[in-house]
Amino acid sequence: MNILSNKNILLGITGSIAAYKSADLVSNLKKQGCNIKTVMTKSSELFITETTLEALSGEEVICEESQSHTKENFKHLSLAKWADIILIAPCTANFMNKLANGHGDDLLSTICLAFTKSIFVVPAMNPDMWNNKVTQNSKEKLKSADITMIGPSYGSHACGDIGYGRMSSSNEIIEVISRQDNNSSIAGSKILITAGPTREPIDPVRYISNYSSGKMGYAMALAAKSMGAYVEIVSGPVKIQPIKNIKTTYVDTSSDMLNVVISKVRDFDIFISAAAIADYRPINYSQVKHKQSDGNLNIEFTRGADILKTVSEKYKKLFTIGFAAETDKLDANAKHKLEDKNLDMIIGNIANHELKIGFESDFNKVTVFTKDRTKEIDEDKKINIAVELFKIISSEYSKKVSLVSLDVK
Ligand SMILES: Cc1cc2nc3c(=O)[nH]c(=O)nc-3n(C[C@H](O)[C@H](O)[C@H](O)COP(=O)(O)O)c2cc1C
Repeated sequence: MNILSNKNILLGITGSIAAYKSADLVSNLKKQGCNIKTVMTKSSELFITETTLEALSGEEVICEESQSHTKENFKHLSLAKWADIILIAPCTANFMNKLANGHGDDLLSTICLAFTKSIFVVPAMNPDMWNNKVTQNSKEKLKSADITMIGPSYGSHACGDIGYGRMSSSNEIIEVISRQDNNSSIAGSKILITAGPTREPIDPVRYISNYSSGKMGYAMALAAKSMGAYVEIVSGPVKIQPIKNIKTTYVDTSSDMLNVVISKVRDFDIFISAAAIADYRPINYSQVKHKQSDGNLNIEFTRGADILKTVSEKYKKLFTIGFAAETDKLDANAKHKLEDKNLDMIIGNIANHELKIGFESDFNKVTVFTKDRTKEIDEDKKINIAVELFKIISSEYSKKVSLVSLDVK
């Protein structure tokens, strides 16, 4: 699992001699677990074939003339909605200048006009074309439109000239599109995240647990890491592979989770409780298996550990965030938890299997509650939700840090 796993990447290919390099880029993006749809400009078909790209991506390649324009199928709009990222690699001088001036006279440029998320442009052109004042003005215009430029690098070109204009390597491109906002206040901070369910044993063969998959907590960890934070996870039993370079401690029960959290949390700046910790655990653990009988089996439960409340009461300077999965009255229940547990933020969602979001799903839809604001985040993949959440966390966290430092003075 990494920040690009399952991301929908729309790869735009334009008519540069470097178009052959997009074959390698497609293979490397596939290795990252991305879903790729390729859109080719008419000129790019002179440099690389649709067949090559289709074979490597195993997915749709859309050429200028292959698009249909039925009422149900506005390709430029459906593709703009599908994509999480648009990556134009290689990007010609012509396409850069078109994009900078808001033109929409072919499929790829029209998709870019209809797209509301991050666009990355990887220029590839002769050094004179790159240094041309018009191209340089376009570079500035694209930056001010929040379009990220990757490269170009310096070196020798197919035409024999030497200078800036070479297309960046696929490794450099992947490095940039994986990076999130490193200027965020959480860059350099230490974040402890709990994830997954807990299991409360009843007897040697039975336990009580819940449907939590851990996907939201792990997505939070990945997003925080990509923004430059040091992250550790305390995880209940999940089917997710460990994330490279994130230390993960595995636990079973809520009291194990409490012990591990308490032993670590004083060294962290932010604590995020995304685990679905059992509210109740059996009072008595039976050393032998409960035998089958004709009568009912009564098991008495008592309250499990309230990790979030314990942590927020003990470490008042820590920025504490809870998750609340509710079946009803989301606003009232989440606000009550925010106050009762003295949290800085709570992220609420409706737990409902029929909605196919939340528990076990790759998708979620959440509402963020702080003491003075409420913000809804529309349904999206958990990793995208996590990135959006960290934009809010970052601004709220820096507010708390400045208040705490005023306190100290
Ligand atoms: C052999 C050849 C190589 C070219 N290589 C590049 C290039 O690397 N970068 C560039 O900006 N234009 C290059 N061009 C020019 C573009 O193909 C031309 O501007 C085209 O209209 C771009 O169309 P597009 O931006 O819609 O893909 C090249 C043209 C030819 C004939």
